[in-house]
Amino acid sequence: MDAVQAPIIPVLGDIMRQTPDTISLGQGVVHYGPPPAAIEAVRDALALPSTHEYQDGAGLPTLLDRIGRKLASENGIDVARGSRAMVTAGANMAFMHAVLAISEPGDEIVLNVPFYFNHEMAIQMAGCVPVRVGTDERYQLRPDALRRAITDRTRAIVTVSPNNPTGAVLGEASLREVSAICRDHGLYHIADEVYEYFTYGSARHFSPASIPGAEAFTISMYSLSKAYGFAGWRIGYLAYPEHLAVAMMKSQDTILCCPPVASQIAAAAALDVGRAYCDPYVRELAEIRHVVVDRLGALAPLATVPAADGAFYCLLKVNTEIDPLALAERLIREHRVAVVPGTAFGMTDGCYFRVAYGALQKETVAEGIGRLVDGLRAILR
Ligand SMILES: Cc1ncc(COP(=O)(O)O)c(C=O)c1O
Repeated sequence: MDAVQAPIIPVLGDIMRQTPDTISLGQGVVHYGPPPAAIEAVRDALALPSTHEYQDGAGLPTLLDRIGRKLASENGIDVARGSRAMVTAGANMAFMHAVLAISEPGDEIVLNVPFYFNHEMAIQMAGCVPVRVGTDERYQLRPDALRRAITDRTRAIVTVSPNNPTGAVLGEASLREVSAICRDHGLYHIADEVYEYFTYGSARHFSPASIPGAEAFTISMYSLSKAYGFAGWRIGYLAYPEHLAVAMMKSQDTILCCPPVASQIAAAAALDVGRAYCDPYVRELAEIRHVVVDRLGALAPLATVPAADGAFYCLLKVNTEIDPLALAERLIREHRVAVVPGTAFGMTDGCYFRVAYGALQKETVAEGIGRLVDGLRAILR
């Protein structure tokens, strides 16, 4: 545990608490809550004894049924043919299960840098080795570099699209290439797709497990946290190759027993509403994203940011020698705006900040970005 990085959000939270009226462009959450139908379904279910008892480890049949239909119609994944679905307490848990199911201590799992910090943390906690491979200047995959990183201890390559922390939507061709690399080298492809609905303009989400044959080695993970404003209900799920079922269920049984029943009832009702629930929010985010990209773009050459087509993040590169955490602290204390240093995502070479714009209304984001721009200009003058 000593080697595992400490979660960065609480560290920033402490500094923010000392600085009232800070606008947080830090945490990756959305500003809306669950569909009302989800809350009503739970209210009705509270009177049933079964809501308060242990239930099936893989998830409630009613929820698994809806997940199966969603995976088939939206992701091109058929859980009746070679894949299984399992409900977890969020996609973070899905990732932990996946790592435990496929690896033994000392194995290597390849992460594209920048990575989602909890992925690296989970790999290390499982006694495995995260192998870092850089992306290109637009934070897109470099399949040749991934190929070169493979050793006889490699077990999996992880891709996150749309991406946290960059907002990049990874190109379908490069995801197909990664899938082929995994197939050819006997590796698993762990595809984190929790931001699948959050794409803008012409960007399209692509599920690698939809490639014929890829269901045999692809572990796809999803979450209701963002799409349905469900972060506190802790519901995610994964689709995984059926030969991993015994290992997955051992991990699930030990860590969770069964997913929280009340949350699953809410999730089934949310999936009945479907992705149409978040479409208006995504349209609103698309407008906010314009403001963010325009205002940050004006910082060049002091700072640069590649246009990001997905999620609700962008990763700003600041041209300075100042330590990113020290700069983040000054931005909070002196300019009352919080962003997350890129070091948390493995960007140790240079000064980067993740800017998250999902949690706030448009006006607040605009004000926060204004403070960030003014703050960087003032500090780096
Ligand atoms: C890429 C990525 N994967 C997984 C998660 C975890 O989601 P959940 O709330 O479902 O555990 C997040 C949350 O921020 C994320 O950004």
